[in-house]
Amino acid sequence: MNANHITRRQFMAAASAGSLAAVAAGAIPAYGNLSKKAGKPAILGGQAVRTKPFPRWPIWDRNHDEELVLSVLRSGVWSRAKVVAEFEKKYAELMGAKRCLATTNGTHALLTSLHVLGVGIGDEVLVPPYTFIATIDVIFLSGALPIMVDTDRETFQINPDKLEEKITENTKAILPVHILGLPANMDKINAIAKKHNLLVIEDACQAWMAEWRGKKCGTLGDLGCFSFQNSKNLPCGEGGAIVGDDDAIMDQCHSYHNFGRPHGESMLTLSGYVRLGTKCRMAEYQAAILLAQMKRLEEQTKRRAQNAEYLTSRIKQIPGIIPHKLYEGVTRAAYHLYPFRYRQEDFDGLPRAKFLAALRAEGIPCSAGYSPINKDPFFERTLRSKNFRKMYSKKRLNRCREQNHCPDNDQLCKEAVWLFHNLLLGTQRDMDDIADAILKIYENRDKLT
Ligand SMILES: Cc1ncc(COP(=O)(O)O)c(C=O)c1O
Repeated sequence: MNANHITRRQFMAAASAGSLAAVAAGAIPAYGNLSKKAGKPAILGGQAVRTKPFPRWPIWDRNHDEELVLSVLRSGVWSRAKVVAEFEKKYAELMGAKRCLATTNGTHALLTSLHVLGVGIGDEVLVPPYTFIATIDVIFLSGALPIMVDTDRETFQINPDKLEEKITENTKAILPVHILGLPANMDKINAIAKKHNLLVIEDACQAWMAEWRGKKCGTLGDLGCFSFQNSKNLPCGEGGAIVGDDDAIMDQCHSYHNFGRPHGESMLTLSGYVRLGTKCRMAEYQAAILLAQMKRLEEQTKRRAQNAEYLTSRIKQIPGIIPHKLYEGVTRAAYHLYPFRYRQEDFDGLPRAKFLAALRAEGIPCSAGYSPINKDPFFERTLRSKNFRKMYSKKRLNRCREQNHCPDNDQLCKEAVWLFHNLLLGTQRDMDDIADAILKIYENRDKLT
């Protein structure tokens, strides 16, 4: 940490602790006043706010992770067996679900859920465009049509007030995504699903431990799906899970993910297949890593949430920075990503890309996040594909195109800024670095435009 940095922080402390009266009188701005101390932006050759790296990701250690993985390796049993079963039991307990089925990844958890719940050709699925591509892929891959429901820019989630207008006699399911690890409005989503007799399949692939009114995300609909890919808050490289309370449905998921063998049969059975199936079984070493990672999850989730709250309290005071909101029903957010909106006008027209570059130069990793995937070429190409033209009338395909218009999402994709979850695993001083760096850019906006 450099001298410049300490001086600036000392200045900030003095400004916030001792100058409340001056702030109230309007003598200094409510967000503090860095103008004399901020120094030249790092992107213009000045000293960066931060040179120290943030906590690395993923985290592992010799005692837990290495031992568990090595014991699987040494056992010679690497395909799905007792370690996966142990992970499923513990993850179901952690989520407060009756059952858990581990899968190869989150995409296959979603595909399996859609298949078993009977979503297929002819059906429409209501889904947000502000998500990772896999959420949309699995709907198309099931033979169904994704119907986009615009985003609530304040929360970054599917806008529940825009759901009902998209429902037709072909609507079969809602696929809410707790995107960035922040819960979607499950009260409204479930009430609409109940009223119209729709399935709810939660994409909780970024929302391990997030809660809606004290209940874990992923347990609020018919089935909930998770991802354990390398970057995720609960990682094992590649992995996924389905959680659910209905034994018959979970048995079918198990059977489908194991070539259609009946649930409870040996993995080696070569006859008696009861349904069409695929193979998306988790391997033993994936489960071993997850068992080790799970030991850290509660403490890490708590730390991310605490740091997120503190960071929000700091950056909400900076003009042009609009922190995300959480719905009233959120009792815990998982913060796979920490999002805020950037208002270019307040930064004298400094484009978001330049703001991001300046923030990175100050030592703060950040991203612009998703672009509108509903506008990517794959969408139209899929609708025009041979299979979809065979499965659907022109009228149905055109309707899907017409619904694929989400102005709020388009706007959000232009103004979002993401911070990665590992940044939230540091200390409160690390959060100060982030807020100070944003403030420094704000103070120097005239030099950057
Ligand atoms: C929202 C969302 N849905 C689905 C997936 C798919 O999970 P996986 O990459 O494990 O297949 C991801 C993964 O990034 C995701 O973020």
